[in-house]
Amino acid sequence: MKKVALVTGANKGLGYQTAKELGQNGIKVLVGARNEERGNNAVSQLKNEGIDAEFVQLDVASADSIKDAVKTISENYDQLDILVNNAGMIHAKESWDADSVNSLTQDILRNTFETNFFGLVDLTQQLVPLIKKSAQGNIVNVSSILGSLEEANNPKSDYYQVKPFAYNASKAAVNSYTIHLAAALKNDKIKVNSAHPGGVQTDLGTEHAPLTVKQGARTIVDLALDTSEKTAQFEHLGQTIAW
Ligand SMILES: NC(=O)c1ccc[n+]([C@@H]2O[C@H](COP(=O)([O-])OP(=O)(O)OC[C@H]3O[C@@H](n4cnc5c(N)ncnc54)[C@H](OP(=O)(O)O)[C@@H]3O)[C@@H](O)[C@H]2O)c1
Repeated sequence: MKKVALVTGANKGLGYQTAKELGQNGIKVLVGARNEERGNNAVSQLKNEGIDAEFVQLDVASADSIKDAVKTISENYDQLDILVNNAGMIHAKESWDADSVNSLTQDILRNTFETNFFGLVDLTQQLVPLIKKSAQGNIVNVSSILGSLEEANNPKSDYYQVKPFAYNASKAAVNSYTIHLAAALKNDKIKVNSAHPGGVQTDLGTEHAPLTVKQGARTIVDLALDTSEKTAQFEHLGQTIAW
């Protein structure tokens, strides 16, 4: 049976590249995107490259959108094999260059968590029953090394100065979810891992980032396709990152 994957935020950047590479591996790809036009454009591009792709309207900051997407997927597919929780954002009022912990508002914090954390948990919880129907399920949470508490607390770390607090805290929360969910599902043949793509040249990562989108998607795709028993790991290109 053909494997089925859902990638959130798949209309551009790392999500699009991940969808493309999963498709190139013979997997049916559900392209989650909040904007219908952007989602359908991505699906057309993927189809032009010979990939079996379908658009699913999915705004992870909207409980109604999540509910509708889960209903559509559950009605049309017997199982979900891969879930890539990729959709993510840094609030326009945070930057990579300034420590925001004293200046940010509740609004910035809540808004960031809405997409990067609450939506991710809500969607995943609702899809777990369908993923349990897979012979081997893989959940990949696209996190960031900026969510590593170890790095954030180490003055010698390259990332010590990179302190957009809402973004970093939302990714730390994602990592906590990875650990908790992996433990809860360890008897269900579902693996749950966190990926750090690296600093990647996307709209979020900016053109100054060191890695291309293809290089950045490597960690995500590898974890999504992993057939070992690996679970509850936080990785970049096969290397473990400290939580
Ligand atoms: N680039 C990096 O250096 C880097 C490093 C570490 C981690 N990451 C993580 O990698 C993931 C992908 O980021 P990227 O670099 O590919 O950024 P990107 O090019 O800006 O893409 C972000 C994607 O997320 C979508 N998105 C944002 N809010 C959403 C929502 N509420 N519902 C559904 N989709 C939503 C965007 O959709 P729209 O087009 O509609 O806005 C877009 O498709 C993020 O989780 C990010 O935190 C990136």
